[in-house]
Amino acid sequence: MRIAVAGATGNIGSLTVAALEGAGHDAVRMSRSLGVDVATGAGLDDALAGVEAVIDVTNSGATDRDEAVAAFGTATRNLLAAEQRAGVRHHVLLSIAGLDRVDGNAHYAGKREQERLVSAGDVPWTIVPATQFHDFAAMVADWMEQDGAAPIAPLLVQPIAPADVAAILAEIAVGAPQGRYRDIAGPDPQDLVDMARRTHQARGRTVRLVPTWSSLFGPEMAGEVMLPGKDARIAPTSFDAWLADQH
Ligand SMILES: NC(=O)c1ccc[n+]([C@@H]2O[C@H](COP(=O)([O-])OP(=O)(O)OC[C@H]3O[C@@H](n4cnc5c(N)ncnc54)[C@H](OP(=O)(O)O)[C@@H]3O)[C@@H](O)[C@H]2O)c1
Repeated sequence: MRIAVAGATGNIGSLTVAALEGAGHDAVRMSRSLGVDVATGAGLDDALAGVEAVIDVTNSGATDRDEAVAAFGTATRNLLAAEQRAGVRHHVLLSIAGLDRVDGNAHYAGKREQERLVSAGDVPWTIVPATQFHDFAAMVADWMEQDGAAPIAPLLVQPIAPADVAAILAEIAVGAPQGRYRDIAGPDPQDLVDMARRTHQARGRTVRLVPTWSSLFGPEMAGEVMLPGKDARIAPTSFDAWLADQH
């Protein structure tokens, strides 16, 4: 089956391409560095010729709420319009578990807009809400690090391995559209500060972590807000197993 991956060079995108090709599918790679821009629509029509399903794992770094909504909104409109022209039969969107429980986060507002457009659109769809990835803690600490110290919230999360996310997306894309899928999550709850500390240790990095609810993530994300729903699909790779591969 011919399946396009929007965001094919990214963290999840590159693993999704590998999962699709490993299962014998024809993966079409789309990203700006490969000449396809979902923000402008450039290159989309050519890339989607003969494509039956699209997996959207693009991202936006916008930190302002309006900019994030505009970026995810424009990208999704362009992608869905091109899919309709090409006769694509299944749009798979990677989203975030618990989006509706967190109002104040700009990225989440953008992802809600993306979900709204996909679910109201004419291309049959599956939305896959994932918990944070195993590399999320170190990524957040890297964003915030200044002079050897990084403020980071002690979020309670149930992280999932990027390769497990990719495998699930590849599996879902070849099947029939399912609408809103169950949350997908890893096997164990974790504390984000502890995850960042252990990832840094494994990678030989020295960063002073400062637990706080006054930085990127505020108290509205405390408690069990970020945990997956009770019927979540639990992926096999634990944080510890993933960590054992970090150098
Ligand atoms: N991190 C988490 O814990 C987490 C948890 C749940 C869900 N998610 C979601 O997972 C998704 C993917 O995250 P990721 O970490 O894999 O992202 P990433 O590593 O930042 O990759 C983003 C990809 O999108 C491409 N891209 C960006 N703008 C584009 C544009 N205008 N046109 C075409 N391609 C574009 C990038 O390539 P170019 O730069 O070459 O264009 C890259 O291939 C995000 O939507 C995020 O919300 C993340």
